[in-house]
Amino acid sequence: MSEQHPTPVSVLGLGAMGRAIADAIHRGGHPTTVWNRTAGRADSLVAKGLALAPTATAAVEASPVIVVCLLDDASVRDTLTPLADSLAGRLVINVTTMTPQQAREAAAWAAEQGIEYLAGAIMAIPQMIGLPVASLLYSGSTAAFDTHRPLLELLGGARFFGSDAGRAALYDLALLGSMYAMFAGVAHGAAMVASEGLPTAEFVAMAGPWISAMTTGLPRHAEYFDSGDYAAEVQSLDFNKAALDTIAEASREQGVGTDVIAAVQTLIDRQVAAGHGKDSFARIFESIRHPADAS
Ligand SMILES: NC(=O)c1ccc[n+]([C@@H]2O[C@H](COP(=O)([O-])OP(=O)(O)OC[C@H]3O[C@@H](n4cnc5c(N)ncnc54)[C@H](OP(=O)(O)O)[C@@H]3O)[C@@H](O)[C@H]2O)c1
Repeated sequence: MSEQHPTPVSVLGLGAMGRAIADAIHRGGHPTTVWNRTAGRADSLVAKGLALAPTATAAVEASPVIVVCLLDDASVRDTLTPLADSLAGRLVINVTTMTPQQAREAAAWAAEQGIEYLAGAIMAIPQMIGLPVASLLYSGSTAAFDTHRPLLELLGGARFFGSDAGRAALYDLALLGSMYAMFAGVAHGAAMVASEGLPTAEFVAMAGPWISAMTTGLPRHAEYFDSGDYAAEVQSLDFNKAALDTIAEASREQGVGTDVIAAVQTLIDRQVAAGHGKDSFARIFESIRHPADAS
């Protein structure tokens, strides 16, 4: 549809993220209809001129493009299954966090119902939606991504990962997993500092730049991962094992938990026990990728 007549869009789900998305789409000039299971969450949006549908069916029937932003896979199934007839012939853009398998099942269900389907994953918090810093990942219908790219870019950067609907979720959860493990590491370091009664602010101010500097080595890690050739250039797993053992010992001395560090030790120890102590730290990838056979 031309910019003079932007496509009407309906948003199902008005949690913190759904509200931010509906607001950004409306600000982008699209007639926007919203629906939420529990009443009252649309008040601020209605005050801005968005239309509140009395039922999910009415919301679907108001627009050719339906953005779904619910809690999880179960809530998407609960909500969309009874709407199949109304959704047929429309485009569903589902930005609910799901596993790759769940996303593929949702796409297969949509195809059976004659619903065009684009899976989305949001690398942002609600306050970032609509800003360049927000990044959203998509996979599924190529035609939908191409046709509606201007709409998608109202939410943030839009990157397409091909026709496999599960691919956006795969990258989403891989990125989130990286982030959570990193934050857990910082929490461990903060607990060590706090064990001496020190405020953690100074430590955290050092941790950010330190981690950022170390990430310059990540492309080399990808080469190790992809090639399977882990010949160490600098530090070996034997060296890293000694470092991790010392961190764990210091943690115990300080009276803080070793859960985060122990997880890394386990990954290293499996590789060292299998005779790979001279290889690069990047080899812990093999412990994760082949949990039953980490050799
Ligand atoms: N918030 C973030 O920072 C963030 C970042 C990236 C991705 N996401 C993803 O975005 C999605 C929405 O997140 P959010 O922050 O908006 O979550 P939220 O504030 O907890 O909102 C959850 C939404 O799902 C609805 N819902 C839950 N179960 C339902 C069911 N069985 N049937 C119908 N509706 C149901 C809730 O409706 P009620 O109001 O009726 O409970 C509400 O609209 C999630 O998949 C989340 O992982 C969020």
